[in-house]
Amino acid sequence: LVIVLDFGGQYNQLIARRVREANVYCEMLPYTTPVEDILAKEPKGIIFSGGPSSVYGERAPRIDRRIYESGIPILGICYGMQLMTHDLGGKVERAKSREYGKATLKITEEDKIFRGIEMQTDCWMSHGDYITQPPPQFKITAVTASTPIAAMSNEARRHYGIQFHPEVKHTPRGQDMLEAFLYEVCGCAGEWNMASFVDEEVVRIRELVGNKKVISALSGGVDSAVSSVLVSKAIGEQLTCIFVDHGLLRKGEAQQVKDTFGGKFNLNFIAVDAKERFLKKLAGVTDPEQKRKIIGEEFIRVFEEEAEQLGEIDYLVQGTLYSDVVESGTETAATIKSHHNVGGLPEEMNLSLIEPLRSLFKDEVRLVGEELGLPADIVWRQPFPGPGLAIRILGEITEEKLATLRDADNIVIDEIKRANLYRDIWQAFAVLPSMRSVGVMGDERTYSYTAVVRAVTSDDAMTADWARMPYDLLERISNRIVNEVEEINRVVYDITSKPPGTIEWE
Ligand code: XMP
Repeated sequence: LVIVLDFGGQYNQLIARRVREANVYCEMLPYTTPVEDILAKEPKGIIFSGGPSSVYGERAPRIDRRIYESGIPILGICYGMQLMTHDLGGKVERAKSREYGKATLKITEEDKIFRGIEMQTDCWMSHGDYITQPPPQFKITAVTASTPIAAMSNEARRHYGIQFHPEVKHTPRGQDMLEAFLYEVCGCAGEWNMASFVDEEVVRIRELVGNKKVISALSGGVDSAVSSVLVSKAIGEQLTCIFVDHGLLRKGEAQQVKDTFGGKFNLNFIAVDAKERFLKKLAGVTDPEQKRKIIGEEFIRVFEEEAEQLGEIDYLVQGTLYSDVVESGTETAATIKSHHNVGGLPEEMNLSLIEPLRSLFKDEVRLVGEELGLPADIVWRQPFPGPGLAIRILGEITEEKLATLRDADNIVIDEIKRANLYRDIWQAFAVLPSMRSVGVMGDERTYSYTAVVRAVTSDDAMTADWARMPYDLLERISNRIVNEVEEINRVVYDITSKPPGTIEWE
């Protein structure tokens, strides 16, 4: 285990990803974690992340000094390096101007981190403060044109600092440097993979649950499918999976979920048809956050009712991912939208949570799904939000609009699959902005809905870019939608990235 201490930098999740890509398990913890808790985990190494603060700022994140005395290898990145310098007796100063962007790194003295790397290589800088004097016993190992101490190390104590960001792709040898720290300095074996993740989770879940009963909400999406099957692998019949059809699913989806999980997976599976209940509650509601709240709450009601019939239950499985955890507001990230799959349920139902995927990124979840033998169709399914089509129809939700959106959406997905681009695109779907415009069909004037096509590429939904789909594909999608979906006479393509847009429209 390696710990990434989070000082609030924008690339911190990436650091964790890169460590795992090196087949080393890592956890990211807030810098406020008590030092006893950090040491109790017996990490093989600790990485101090970057962060927006200055070590001289009044509220600058600080760290318990005992961490330096622990003997555990430390790599400080950007702010992490400055903090290390400040704490160990070096000098950090405010630069006249921020250094941001690509720089040429000149390695002046080879240490374990730089072994085998060219003496000159690109690196990515993003900092306001810089180090003018390293702490005693540290040697300067690299410089750039405007940063006199771009890297430093005290190899005897296994303390390393780098001012640039090795975790971003703009530092082409960054992964090699991180791996050198993990393998050469920390002595990690680099053997962590999804099979070992599954084995460890199965043991952990078995111990946690004992002979108690567990329920899970199965939506048919990758996350809930993988977490349910993983828990079922651990405790078998003690798990019951409940699928709530809230009527806000895509075309044919409810049936597909029932066929897959009610059939061959041999899970305790209950399907609840709650379409009418949800639509009734949503009637006349137009505010996005209110829609989410209503759906979240109604979901809890339906779930509670089903659970009651099962008798005493202690645990609930949730397919919460690492990105959900961060986006719903941790200490360092602001709340953007209330994702209803985080929080809510357990408080009201008095159930404890099992969140086997809480520390994983989406692509890692897919690998776990493959490991568990789930069909490719489910493992590679694009993410779909809990509130479903409700947050893709702007304004009031009606049966009629749902049917229209389903048909348009189905064409988008179908054409993208035919073009063999489904896996390259993070999410693709249609949105119905509930807006009408004038068109002409045959010789007739039409006045119908506009469909928006949204397709984005992303690694983890934290940021996204609109997909550069081929024009002829867009043309086929547009033609088919206006020809086949009666209520739609115009198709537009959303070319907004995230940020500033979000992936969903509400
Ligand atoms: P946004 O729209 O915030 O979406 O850029 C980021 C990712 O999260 C999904 N999403 C949700 N998932 N419940 C969910 O389970 C929700 O309420 C919810 N809202 C957005 C969205 O589809 C995208 O993958």
